Amino acid sequence: MNEFYKKDIISIKDFNKAQLEQIFASTDKIMKLGPIDRREICKGNTLGYLFYEPSTRTRLSFDAAMASVGGNSLGISDISSSSTKKGESLADTVRIMSNYSDVLVLRHPLDGSSRFAAEISSKPVINAGSGTEEHPTQAIQDLFTIRKEKKKIDGLKIGIIGDLKYGRTVYSLLYGLGNYDVDVHLISPESLRIRSDSVYEIKKRLSFTESTNIEEHIDDLDVLYVTRIQKERFPDEEEYLKVKGSYVVGLDLLQKMRDDSIILHPLPRLDEISTDVDKTKNAKYFEQAEYGKHTRAALLGLILNENGF
Ligand code: CP
Repeated sequence: MNEFYKKDIISIKDFNKAQLEQIFASTDKIMKLGPIDRREICKGNTLGYLFYEPSTRTRLSFDAAMASVGGNSLGISDISSSSTKKGESLADTVRIMSNYSDVLVLRHPLDGSSRFAAEISSKPVINAGSGTEEHPTQAIQDLFTIRKEKKKIDGLKIGIIGDLKYGRTVYSLLYGLGNYDVDVHLISPESLRIRSDSVYEIKKRLSFTESTNIEEHIDDLDVLYVTRIQKERFPDEEEYLKVKGSYVVGLDLLQKMRDDSIILHPLPRLDEISTDVDKTKNAKYFEQAEYGKHTRAALLGLILNENGF
């Protein structure tokens, strides 16, 4: 039996290297299949989504992914138009949605929300972002992008810059990278360093340096992963204003980087990468978003087919 069958996808910590590589191989397969064969993979299945926070890429890429493998999607993208507005609990909403779907995708502002939903749901739950905690399918897409664009992950030097305190994609990416032999350099304002409660867990998996200076390792990086400062998660706007615009990746910085380096960003981007970087060969963040559709299609195919595809 395929080990992803009916599996909840809550944390990237639950994946070892072989499992990640299996998802990447399945993604490569999906990308090579013609549309008719691809639509057989999840034919007749329904994806249900519940988004308690805004999303463009994650929700729409799940939607597009499910359509590409022959299934359909339904759900709540604006929670204020749902019965949550009347006071319905997350538990009851999850129970109802799992009656209407074969797999459930949840984004919620609270850490632990997806694990909680998985305990209640009669169908597999995929975490599409839980508070500041994790965004595992983003990490799968990020790792796939690195592998695709750099032809490997082992041996790379990877810089991660921006909001390392509140950015959940950073935590999932670091846990995922812990399966590989990589050099990691973390760059952030002092107040946005990796949360102390997660440092121990991350250090068990990989070693990293920390700096506030973007130029410290810039000429040696294979990958620069840029993140947005997560204004919405700051308890105090004044604290946000102190770090707003701390780093901007522009053409001047790019000139100091290796010619074959790549720049990634989970998006949405505000001002942390200037738009004139978009047209350079190093900018891979729009490809990264595109790969998100294929990695999610592969994951759905594995979760919904007992014998894989
Ligand atoms: N990367 C990401 O999670 O984007 P959205 O918030 O638009 O889904």
